[in-house]
Amino acid sequence: MCPIKDVTTITENKKITTLAAKNMLRTHTCGELRICDIGKNVTLTGWVQRKRDKGNIIWIDLRDRFGITQLMFEKNKTDNSILQIVDKIGREYVILAKGTVIERESKNPKLPTGDIEIQVNELVILNESATPPFTIDENTDGGEDLRMKYRYLDLRRQPLKQNIELRHRLARETRKYLDQNGFLEIETPFLIKSTPEGARDFVVPSRLHPGEFYALPQSPQTFKQLLMVAGFDRYFQIVRCFRDEDLRADRQPEFTQIDCEMSFVEQEDVLNMFEGLIKHLFTTEKNIKFDDFPKITYQEAIEKYGTDKPDIRFGMTINNISKIVQGKGFQIFDNSEVILAIVVPQAASYTRKQIDELTEFVKRPQIGMSGLAYIRYSNNEIKSSFDKFYSPDELKQIALFCNAQIGDLVLILSGNRKKTYKAMSELRLEMGNRLGLRSPNVYAPLWVVDFPLLEWDDETQRYYAMHHPFTSPKKEDISLLKTNPAQVRANAYDLVINGIEIGGGSIRIHSRELQQTMFNVLGFTNEETQQQFGFLLHAFEFGTPPHGGIALGFDRICALFGGTESIRDYIAFPKNQAARDMMIDAPSTISIEQLNELHIQINYPS
Ligand code: AMO
Repeated sequence: MCPIKDVTTITENKKITTLAAKNMLRTHTCGELRICDIGKNVTLTGWVQRKRDKGNIIWIDLRDRFGITQLMFEKNKTDNSILQIVDKIGREYVILAKGTVIERESKNPKLPTGDIEIQVNELVILNESATPPFTIDENTDGGEDLRMKYRYLDLRRQPLKQNIELRHRLARETRKYLDQNGFLEIETPFLIKSTPEGARDFVVPSRLHPGEFYALPQSPQTFKQLLMVAGFDRYFQIVRCFRDEDLRADRQPEFTQIDCEMSFVEQEDVLNMFEGLIKHLFTTEKNIKFDDFPKITYQEAIEKYGTDKPDIRFGMTINNISKIVQGKGFQIFDNSEVILAIVVPQAASYTRKQIDELTEFVKRPQIGMSGLAYIRYSNNEIKSSFDKFYSPDELKQIALFCNAQIGDLVLILSGNRKKTYKAMSELRLEMGNRLGLRSPNVYAPLWVVDFPLLEWDDETQRYYAMHHPFTSPKKEDISLLKTNPAQVRANAYDLVINGIEIGGGSIRIHSRELQQTMFNVLGFTNEETQQQFGFLLHAFEFGTPPHGGIALGFDRICALFGGTESIRDYIAFPKNQAARDMMIDAPSTISIEQLNELHIQINYPS
């Protein structure tokens, strides 16, 4: 076997590329040949990345998913019939080339195959290509919409191809880990009845049952619980879920979960198992090892970071300074429910313009604050945007309360509790960005635990399950369910990495009675409960084991490992920002015949 000189080309890759070439039109892939292959007669196939004519030599860069190999044609040594074919060949033509591996005169250290080229003695055009609408290269000139329309061409580009390969490896390692830990991969149906997870359902009309609809699952939640009733004990599925919600960089209408459930477990067991999975993925993919993940309660997360998905790659935690600033005659603070501060290290020297920028940032409609106050804590003086109401000593007291050091800038927001914590969370992240404290190559995982079971909604005047209605309350809080539901804590947990909610789960209710109580607290009558969840309650009558589980957002894991924000880049055929598939043009209208068959009447706008 040819020894591998290039240390970046790991043995496994060599094995894969060699296997890929076996029993094919080709003898090798375009990523495989090295200096030690010199003299071999080979057949390569692939797409034409580039053709360069330098007088008496023509080069073609031939690309497949494994790499690029240079083909070489010396005009005075190459058969005329071959040169005629070369002449016809354009970008993205699919060709087959036979030839001999030779050493390159000028080597390209950037390419693993950069020491060699192929002196071609036989050439076949396997298929022609129209001129691609954008450059298929590392960096492309194609706009977002165009690339979405021609996704199959965009996927030929190295960065996207690498993302899809990363996704494959992460799925493979997930399966390996879960299999080794006794989980069975079991499929659950896509045509189901709606599960109440908080988003809107995508629905599918039934032809056989006029006026009735299936829903596509927002998650396999009830099915995985029923698998526990069935005794499967440990289940997993890398499964597509569907949610009709507004899109963002980390949300797609169809996305993939690593969905899991375990029987005879407590919260700690689930956390350990899935912390193990995340550690396994980081070790195998990035060779990064972690200590045990920190755990903080939901309440602590909100108080210190203003959010239940804190980015703990950096500190700058929130200080509640209400007690020490109120009652000094400053109306804005006195009329606020809460006054919060963060300390920006070594920023006391920020210019007026920099502070104005931050003020504009918190005033943006998405954040909605009316202003930003500050204290500059510098060597010779302490100044603030509200000097009139506080003596320098009082200002210093505030700065010291927040643990500010000389040279730091204290940023202060005040107002309604919920809104101010949220705004401070955004400002903290913005400062983290500005100070370069959020490197995509640093990973800070944590568990957020003890979520409230319920959330009150002012608009509909009712409680909603914060996680979902199957989450069990903490044993010690069950008695509060009927008297003070807002105080009940859940056995629910989220996995957060770098400020992104990677996963969430809970220990479930497994008693029929408690599940019925929970539905009642959520405002369902017994009849409604029976109609929607009768199947689950009935199943709970047949020996349901204590159980719990979690679902991890697989697309988000891929984006986190890939170091970019948008999960779209890790999905082969994603939807755009308007939930459209630009390539196949979906959603689209359907024919009157189809509608009739489905018993649906629609008046399409003309
Ligand atoms: P949850 O709704 O928290 O829990 O979803 C689990 C994880 O799925 C990911 N996720 C998404 N990813 C991309 N696009 C979306 N639209 C989207 N929505 C959610 C997130 C999230 O943390 N059945 C429960 C799990 C359980 O209790 O076991 C559930 O689905 O990373």
